[in-house]
Amino acid sequence: MIPPMELYIDTANMDEINEAAALGVLDGVTTNPSLIAKEGVDFHTRMSEICAVVSGPVSGEVVSLEHDSMIAEANDLLQIADNLVIKLPCTVDGLKACKTLSDRNVRTNLTLCFQPLQALMVAKAGAFLVSPFLGRIDDIGGDGMELIQQIRTVYDNYGFTTKILAASIRHPLHLVQCALLGADVATVPMKVIKQMMHHPLTDKGLEGFLADWNARKQ
Ligand code: E4P
Repeated sequence: MIPPMELYIDTANMDEINEAAALGVLDGVTTNPSLIAKEGVDFHTRMSEICAVVSGPVSGEVVSLEHDSMIAEANDLLQIADNLVIKLPCTVDGLKACKTLSDRNVRTNLTLCFQPLQALMVAKAGAFLVSPFLGRIDDIGGDGMELIQQIRTVYDNYGFTTKILAASIRHPLHLVQCALLGADVATVPMKVIKQMMHHPLTDKGLEGFLADWNARKQ
């Protein structure tokens, strides 16, 4: 059986994470250095708080640029919780760090992926997740969804098990398209999670039902 598309929230804000977790359909969390900086909190403390609320994969990103420092940072982060996933950039050193950590059975999320060959390489290195940033490609006039399609085809051609985590989601249509193309996971800002359950005809229909119900003859 094919598992359903997983839903992660893309934030480091505890109110949003608690709100999304309460929906009962949240599978994980992604953070990045910008999201942590926005909250003005200690990185390790916040990762520990998130991991206490969400039992699924929680991605925390290293800020080092070279292999040995990335591994040192990862080792510190791995002390925080068992569900912590090490987020590494799609660079040469990130690829090497991915292989080092995968060989130790540590789960990784290879981020800032903008072309299918990066996805191919990190899958060969044993990445648990790859994060194509589709919104940022759309932002500069490209087609982010084409990248999702290309990675899906490459992974299916060779049986790679690395999960495609659609990132940089801007609006609900991105999610519809990701689900149609078979992305394994989408990481979504709270604003868009709320939009996923909204339709004006649902509101209008409900209003009509309740008006008829309240006007019924007893
Ligand atoms: C994913 O892991 C990233 O944190 C995120 O999706 C980046 O999105 P942005 O392009 O909106 O910053």
